[in-house]
Amino acid sequence: MDPDRFATAPERWTPASWRSFPVRQMPRYPDDAALEAVEARLRKYPPLVFAGEAERLRLQLAKAAQGEAFILQGGNCAESFAEFQADNIRDTFRVLLQMAVVLTFAARVPVVKIGRMAGQYAKPRSSDEETREGVTLPCYRGDIINGPDFTEAARIPDPARMETGYFHSVGVMNLLRAFANGGYANLNKVHKWNLGFVQRSPSGKRYADLANRIDEALGFISACGFDAAAPQFNETEFYTSHEALLLPYEQALTRVDSLTGKWYDCSAHFLWIGDRTRQPEGAHVEFLRGVSNPIGIKVGPTSTVEDLEKLLQILNPKDEAGRITLISRMGRSKVRTHLPPLLAAVQKTGRTVTWICDPMHGNTTTTADKVKTRSFEAILDEVIGFFSVFQEAGLRPGGVHLEMTGQDVTECVGGAQCLTEADLAGRYETFCDPRLNAEQSLEMAFLLANELTGCFAPALEQAG
Ligand code: PEP
Ligand code: CO
Repeated sequence: MDPDRFATAPERWTPASWRSFPVRQMPRYPDDAALEAVEARLRKYPPLVFAGEAERLRLQLAKAAQGEAFILQGGNCAESFAEFQADNIRDTFRVLLQMAVVLTFAARVPVVKIGRMAGQYAKPRSSDEETREGVTLPCYRGDIINGPDFTEAARIPDPARMETGYFHSVGVMNLLRAFANGGYANLNKVHKWNLGFVQRSPSGKRYADLANRIDEALGFISACGFDAAAPQFNETEFYTSHEALLLPYEQALTRVDSLTGKWYDCSAHFLWIGDRTRQPEGAHVEFLRGVSNPIGIKVGPTSTVEDLEKLLQILNPKDEAGRITLISRMGRSKVRTHLPPLLAAVQKTGRTVTWICDPMHGNTTTTADKVKTRSFEAILDEVIGFFSVFQEAGLRPGGVHLEMTGQDVTECVGGAQCLTEADLAGRYETFCDPRLNAEQSLEMAFLLANELTGCFAPALEQAG
């Protein structure tokens, strides 16, 4: 690798320049010709998003950096081909809408909705192998790379999965766009988003009360002559995101915007770099520095001030607001000690970044039966810790990043349902990490809303 690349690199970036950098977490495909044939086809397929949308999201993320918006990013840890069904997509989408309504009501700022959807198919893994009952096989790396079944054949990376992943993403994206713009997200239907099984829970009841208040407000404003059929009430903006892990796929979907001449990775609006691939000198950083999408960087307990400063310089040399979202994922026991020095260091650089909290990935535990889980209480505690770090610094938190689903699964313990470890076996369906179920997600939104009222209070006072 050229040690001077940071000084001279901008001219030399190409969608393929990552290939000469050290790369982690990349599958080794057994058949180069098959891989190249898939990449060649993907390069010709239509983009999933277009540049103007990614730019719009960037401006909204910039607002969140100023405390004038709040980000809600959520969805599966790993989407799967097997769960490619309208109901799954709809249920996750509508819980996100419900959560956004709850958070908007509390913070009184726009809530920017970003799904971990329509492309979240590649997974970084802590270990290359998995052993079950004395048999060791390569680990599962997400449906876009290999199969989840514990057989030798399923675990061989197959480039054809990239094409399948693309078409699944297209299908999910299409339905999300239809829901967002076709009337489903109409605020006048706020009651209808209450899912059957959630409706009966304490959070479902609380949500129904909130929906009544929204109905009253809409009735009032239309009586005053405002148009309740206006797009603000009938449509919503919904963005997609995934970890930019599988670089041959991301490269093949990277296109030049004909209006501006800038490159965009058109596989999603927002792409993030994971905790395991954020080395400043690595291939993932090299790839993302050249695309103009807003990007996220996971910031974990092993992140250093030095690396963070380098990453901001490499990925956002012109300090464009909204370009970088730092996704803190420290764990409940570390967020209050590890985050403040990083936050202070970034503040000192004078750079604009949006900070959001991923309270999932630092709080994964394993039960005695070797089931991965997370406790609702730990997740909540990390977000509260994150919010308090920001309040103490005189800043507003930018948002949250959750692994959640609209299904009634049993993967995380705790919450109002009081799910215990013994309950986990009931509906444990995740293909990777444990997710909050629909009820836990809505409950989390209400609890976070309580905290946000304090974080965002000064604006309310100023406004009053
Ligand atoms: C993820 O977001 O699913 C993930 C793997 O996170 P991290 O890179 O923070 O571990
Ligand atoms: Co995960």
